[in-house]
Amino acid sequence: MIFTVAIDGPAAAGKGTISKQVAARFGFAHLDTGLIYRATAARVLEGEDPLKAAGGLRPSDLERDDLRTPKVAQAASKVAAISEVREVLVAFQRSFATRDGGAVLDGRDIGTVICPDADVKLYVTASDAVRAKRRFAELSPKNPDLTEEGVLQDLMVRDKRDRERVTAPMRAAYDALQLDTSEMSIEQAVAAAISAIEEKLPQP
Ligand code: DC
Repeated sequence: MIFTVAIDGPAAAGKGTISKQVAARFGFAHLDTGLIYRATAARVLEGEDPLKAAGGLRPSDLERDDLRTPKVAQAASKVAAISEVREVLVAFQRSFATRDGGAVLDGRDIGTVICPDADVKLYVTASDAVRAKRRFAELSPKNPDLTEEGVLQDLMVRDKRDRERVTAPMRAAYDALQLDTSEMSIEQAVAAAISAIEEKLPQP
């Protein structure tokens, strides 16, 4: 069975958590497409050419321990604005999306560019303040110098770049279900995603 779930939205809105739990619930494979851009960026920060870095990505690159840092996040948003880099990464994402057994992909352009025919599309948002609070809670244990204000500024800069770039800008597909998680618990957000998927799953 080919069944694709596209989950897009700005940084720290809850896409990752929702995607992982939804994939586990339905037994679908999950691809965090942000990791692809982060892994490309990590290689660029080491001096590699962006196009070569994207073209030469190996699965092990996605498992590097340093991909979650604010520095790599900003660099990822910058390499993601290079059209040729995005082009190199399209085929891998599409083949992941159409694998047998179902797939959840989360990112910025999944419902609009990578999988415009996805069976279910969600656009997950949350207020800036809530997103900054969540990301600060996630990062601060390992980054004692971070402040919530700094995290907020970082998210805003990244979102603006991701939203305003020419190729595949971050936006909701016209047919995406919008999910504002600002006042939702994780359980509520996941439940909303699950019911949207159950509505579209082929009946046995
Ligand atoms: O989801 P994330 O925060 O890990 O993504 C890091 C950056 O990668 C994000 O700021 C923009 C880019 N990205 C993208 O352009 N398209 C995607 N589908 C996923 C991420």
